[in-house]
Amino acid sequence: PCLRALTAIQRDFEIDDEKLKRIAARFEEELYEGLSKHGENLTMEATWVHGLPKGTETGSFLTVDLGGTNIRVCWITLRGRGCQPEIVQKLSHIPEVVKTGEAHQLWGFVADSIDHFVRERGLHCTASSPLALGFTFSYPVRQDSLTNGRLKTWTKGFDIKGVEGEDVVSQLDKALRAKDLHIDVVALINDTTGALIASSYMDAETVIGAIFGTGSNAAYMENVGSIPKLKTPLPPDTPMAINCEYGAFDNSHRVLPRTKFDQMIDRDSPRPGEQTFEKMSAGLYLGEIFRLIICDFHDHGLLFKTQNVSRLARPYTIDTAFLSALESDTLPNLVGKFESISGVEATLGEVQLLRRLAEVVTTRGARLSACGIAAICKKKGIREGHVAVDGSVANKHPTFKSRWAKALAAILDWQSDRERDPIRMVGAKDGSGIGAAVIAAMHLRY
Ligand code: BG6
Ligand code: GLC
Repeated sequence: PCLRALTAIQRDFEIDDEKLKRIAARFEEELYEGLSKHGENLTMEATWVHGLPKGTETGSFLTVDLGGTNIRVCWITLRGRGCQPEIVQKLSHIPEVVKTGEAHQLWGFVADSIDHFVRERGLHCTASSPLALGFTFSYPVRQDSLTNGRLKTWTKGFDIKGVEGEDVVSQLDKALRAKDLHIDVVALINDTTGALIASSYMDAETVIGAIFGTGSNAAYMENVGSIPKLKTPLPPDTPMAINCEYGAFDNSHRVLPRTKFDQMIDRDSPRPGEQTFEKMSAGLYLGEIFRLIICDFHDHGLLFKTQNVSRLARPYTIDTAFLSALESDTLPNLVGKFESISGVEATLGEVQLLRRLAEVVTTRGARLSACGIAAICKKKGIREGHVAVDGSVANKHPTFKSRWAKALAAILDWQSDRERDPIRMVGAKDGSGIGAAVIAAMHLRY
């Protein structure tokens, strides 16, 4: 019965090359739909970043980066292409209470983090000479300039009251003023835009910026003339970086092969019906999908028969880091790790089964992650270049990159050879901070 259950899971999670191609084709259609009209699945947000950097931008900038797990405040010095930017940074974990609290707690926490950093580093800001801040806010915002943005909806499990529908720059501004901090937000950007711009600053072959982390998303360059929904007097050939917000791909459930586990995750999330693609492929959810599968095996008497699984029954007790360990650590080590996470003493045979189940979940995640990038490449006719990537899944999962490369090759019809693939992934570690600094420098130059 265990083998039968495993075979059924493998079948439900398998996405063969033909199916991948169909998903990527639908993805491409959704890119066009999002550029044409408001209210589509992909919101294809205009970022008001007009073009890639020249590599000659210089100066020192304060940046703050609010992602899904951490807040990072940086002082970044740019010295031009060819010189590694200098980064002084302070990283702190975002407390759980902040993630589901009230707006004033969030902005108080962000302003405190900036305040500590500015004091510690002895950075001066006065009313007559304020510091310029590049703010990376990695959630969907609708912007009508580089310096404002209304939050459309929280993603990645955040659920903070009083921010959706509001301008996040005004809210941060108010919190900074309350602390007498003379700091001006000169650029509000997404982490994917940050990865795209930071990477282009150093590497002119960059074509896309992407995050495969807690969430999943990408940014690339369009021309204003290819964004019919945008009402602007700008000439049609003006470049504009687009934040796709493609975690919301297939929210209308036309093409993704959702399993009962995907449906459970969606049903119990703070925003059911949203971020369908992200919930099947991104780091926040991979561990949870895996946990739901093993709980199902337990309920059917196929795993941990006589064990107390009460800890395992709690949502989100297993994170993607454990899935990475399952694919890289030895079986005896894994028995210990699993026990410390779940309180369950698994046998070596059971851990072997866990490893297989983890492979099934993460392979599907990596293959799906290739679809969005393939769709952008097809839409833009991109045949070669670098996809600048950041995020915990890409950086830490041992087999994500090779599976992703193989899937991309299958969709775009070439034989994969990772080092020589015409379109390939390159690291954009710390890209968001550097990207925010580069964009601030580009903006101040205008
Ligand atoms: C960090 C970037 O390195 O990666 C953030 O600074 C980004 O801007 C994050 O949001 C994505 O990774 P994860 O795994 O933390 O979601
Ligand atoms: C979520 C956010 C998006 C971000 C991505 C990666 O999808 O909505 O803005 O880019 O996560 O962090």
